[in-house]
Amino acid sequence: MADRGEPDPIFSHPRLAAVHDPLDPDRSDLDAYAAILVDELGARSLLDVGCGTGTFAIRMAGEGLAVTGVDPAVASIDVARGKSGAEGVTWVAGPVEAVEARGFDAATMTANVAQVFVDEAEWRSALVAIRDRLRPGGTLVLESRRPERRAWEEWTRERTQQVVDVPHEGPVEGWVQVTEVDERASGGPIVRFDSPTVFHRDGVRIDSASTLRFRSREAIESSLAAAGLEVVDVRDAPDRPGREWVLLVRRPGGPSA
Ligand SMILES: C[S@@+](CC[C@H](N)C(=O)[O-])C[C@H]1O[C@@H](n2cnc3c(N)ncnc32)[C@H](O)[C@@H]1O
Repeated sequence: MADRGEPDPIFSHPRLAAVHDPLDPDRSDLDAYAAILVDELGARSLLDVGCGTGTFAIRMAGEGLAVTGVDPAVASIDVARGKSGAEGVTWVAGPVEAVEARGFDAATMTANVAQVFVDEAEWRSALVAIRDRLRPGGTLVLESRRPERRAWEEWTRERTQQVVDVPHEGPVEGWVQVTEVDERASGGPIVRFDSPTVFHRDGVRIDSASTLRFRSREAIESSLAAAGLEVVDVRDAPDRPGREWVLLVRRPGGPSA
């Protein structure tokens, strides 16, 4: 996300949102989340925060959960709404504070949504809003890249460039290039990077600049505690061992789910 305001063009520009899934087709990262919600927690309702193009929200609705997907990127929500199974999800285009429903068994932030919150006050406010929308005993599951693994060092044009043939669009080229790393930021490094996309069909290039915060584990846990959430477990992402923390976090006060 930009330091404050609208999500990055990569999520909020209609032409970019439309090619998001073809450029990132492997969503095996979501299997672990599905297993936690269904097998471990037995959740029956889900708030998917930063749902993007809706892949996980629709999958969970297909598992029989009552799902709300929320994201401030209207273009991504529009892509989600157009998918098969989208009618089983309640979509909210806006920040999590815009969700009126309460009492969710679980909430998720898949694919490192936590890191788009660069501004600490905004991050705290989102966590409080999520807590208030969970039922007592409900669980938030989130992930964040471990800063010591320095994932950003792999974000070069040489290592990330790809061309994908997208139906109705033709070859689409994309890559990622880090532009700035602030390793001395309090709470963990802040990394800025560009994600240009080139549409070979008409030669149009659309640029997108992003900023992510790589919080230390201490910073994550202290912001969760400040929002009134209890850390129940911190584990590896099974598909990315040693690279991410996956946290299960509970709203105190009721039976676990
Ligand atoms: C890396 S994508 C992940 C999308 C989705 N969770 C998935 O697994 O495909 C990050 C998402 O965070 C969203 N986002 C940006 N700012 C946000 C905010 N303030 N609140 C919630 N989501 C936000 C973006 O629009 C984008 O859809």
